[in-house]
Amino acid sequence: MNRLKDKVIIVTGGNGLIGQHIVQRLLEESATCYCVDIAEPTQKLPYFIQADITDPSSVDKLVETVLERHQRIDGWVNNAYPRTKDWGVPFEDIPLGSWKTNVDMQLNMLFYCSQKVLEVMKNAQCGSLVNVASIYGVVGNDFTVYENTGGMTSPAAYSAIKGGVINFTRYLASYYGKYNVRVNTVSPGGVFDYQNETFVKQFESRVPLRRMAKPQEIAPGVAFLLSDDASYISGHNLMIDGGWTAI
Ligand SMILES: NC(=O)c1ccc[n+]([C@@H]2O[C@H](COP(=O)([O-])OP(=O)(O)OC[C@H]3O[C@@H](n4cnc5c(N)ncnc54)[C@H](O)[C@@H]3O)[C@@H](O)[C@H]2O)c1
Repeated sequence: MNRLKDKVIIVTGGNGLIGQHIVQRLLEESATCYCVDIAEPTQKLPYFIQADITDPSSVDKLVETVLERHQRIDGWVNNAYPRTKDWGVPFEDIPLGSWKTNVDMQLNMLFYCSQKVLEVMKNAQCGSLVNVASIYGVVGNDFTVYENTGGMTSPAAYSAIKGGVINFTRYLASYYGKYNVRVNTVSPGGVFDYQNETFVKQFESRVPLRRMAKPQEIAPGVAFLLSDDASYISGHNLMIDGGWTAI
């Protein structure tokens, strides 16, 4: 499929569980797709830039490098998932400093990356930004899925951050619409990653499709939103959740 031919697209967190499949899919659709990650990739990729998206100067350098090489950025996927070591401790035990750091790394830096690239797209009068959020940015948690899992839980800041990302996306879609720049969110449900068996069983019984997502099932939605097939779609939040939020 050549749907993304001639498009220069950046995927942050491109080495991760979901990101590596987004990168793969965009390459298959003929994009010039840059995998951007804080860590070295484990596989050989045509375009890779090591960058820390929590560091504004690293983001500036990333954008400059891609512009120097291609004079354009057509698409950007905010997918990276930086978090503190204590991410996922029970709500009562979250230190304020940890909460603040996670909001800073995940939400505030998404603002910075978006501001940076949307100005490039505005000048070009075209572009598509996709933010990766979550079901937990849309609905509250069903904590029964974590029962008897030896302490698994859903991080509290996650709901605040992802809910923020989804509505921030709407702000950006509205603000940049007149420049022919589209901004959308993709919200995945739980992705299978060999988690605790009890958790997987309990999670799956709650999903209408009765299973967790495969990591490669998020990428097609992202590719669609980046493509011209989505030319009249902006401000949308695409749920890829097996029906979790439908009930
Ligand atoms: N896995 C799920 O079940 C799930 C469900 C819903 C939403 N999501 C969302 O999908 C996105 C990807 O999640 P994932 O499960 O693939 O996570 P992951 O941890 O597997 O991958 C995240 C990637 O981000 C990179 N990264 C971390 N800090 C970085 C930094 N400072 N700069 C650049 N790169 C950095 C990591 O090296 C890693 O490759 C996240 O936004 C996450 O919230 C995941």
